[in-house]
Amino acid sequence: MKAVEIQGFGAPDVLKIASRPVPNPVSGEVLVRVMAAGVNRPDLLQRMGKYPPPPGVSDIPGLEIAGEIVESHHPDWGVGDRVCALLAGGGYAEYAVVPGGQCLPVPHGLNMVQAAALPETAFTVWNNVFVRGHLKADETVLIHGGSSGIGTTAIQMAKALGARVVITAGNDDKCAACIKLGADIAINYKTQDFVAEIAKIGGVDVILDMVGGDYVPRNLDCLKLDGRHVSIASLNGAKAEIDIRTIMQKRIIMTGSTLRPRSVEEKSSLAHGLRTNIWPLIEAGKITPLIHATFPLADAAKAHALLESGNMAGKIVLET
Ligand SMILES: NC(=O)c1ccc[n+]([C@@H]2O[C@H](COP(=O)([O-])OP(=O)(O)OC[C@H]3O[C@@H](n4cnc5c(N)ncnc54)[C@H](OP(=O)(O)O)[C@@H]3O)[C@@H](O)[C@H]2O)c1
Repeated sequence: MKAVEIQGFGAPDVLKIASRPVPNPVSGEVLVRVMAAGVNRPDLLQRMGKYPPPPGVSDIPGLEIAGEIVESHHPDWGVGDRVCALLAGGGYAEYAVVPGGQCLPVPHGLNMVQAAALPETAFTVWNNVFVRGHLKADETVLIHGGSSGIGTTAIQMAKALGARVVITAGNDDKCAACIKLGADIAINYKTQDFVAEIAKIGGVDVILDMVGGDYVPRNLDCLKLDGRHVSIASLNGAKAEIDIRTIMQKRIIMTGSTLRPRSVEEKSSLAHGLRTNIWPLIEAGKITPLIHATFPLADAAKAHALLESGNMAGKIVLET
């Protein structure tokens, strides 16, 4: 099969099309003929040698795919089923092996490109905003990086489940795109102080943070009583100085998680939660993955360069 290899760590042009054996599924797994593969920021880190795949996982990048099952060793799935799936690696290829529990049906009404853009962000947002952050209808959530793949999914899921959504983004166009997607308030953090803006609405209940660093103490200032702070990345720094008294006085819960190293059982449980709570909303047209651009598999380097530039709103997807 054709697959994208990382031939030496570095700039996007280390991504090269190569020939690899089709992987063999074992008990509990399915083999998927990949039709589309989502591109995610962790793929950039893997390409640079900063985010190695977990032990036993393919060195081919790619954390999410959509396609058709061509061999099944899992009771829930059969040959010909159209699925999208969360992978620990190996998505930038014509075939990929995945545990059956990490597959979900391609939602009715979505094409393969849209379906491939779902798993990484849907699993991450469901896990962090709803399972860990316990966002409820009528509460308010602040989503940093609102125009990112994670952000655009979080906006739609939070709105569809009845929450009020505030986002931050780095320019007015990105803010406008987030409002169009359903965000109630968009803050351009380059021209506005998000803490002052949030104070005007009396605070937020949950914060989804991918920035870290000096955002963390400022985030705590934005939380209401019993607020939840959920970290999923530290784009601006992994260390933060916070006033512990703020946590006590506001009874704040600080949590966070990483998705990739979680067990198959944990990912399967998240898939179950998504299928029950989110898939019906997708099929009802209330959540639609925002696709910024697609590239052929052979142009994975161009896709990475675009993601690295930050000049996009929504997801970038490779087509095989
Ligand atoms: N913990 C987990 O389980 C998990 C799972 C998936 C992804 N993630 C992480 O979540 C983050 C978002 O993922 P994604 O795929 O949606 O990423 P993405 O589309 O590349 O978006 C990253 C966003 O972060 C914003 N940003 C803020 N400060 C930044 C900085 N210093 N450098 C670069 N961007 C900055 C950018 O928006 P502005 O231009 O508006 O600032 C950009 O839209 C990534 O860091 C990713 O690694 C975590």
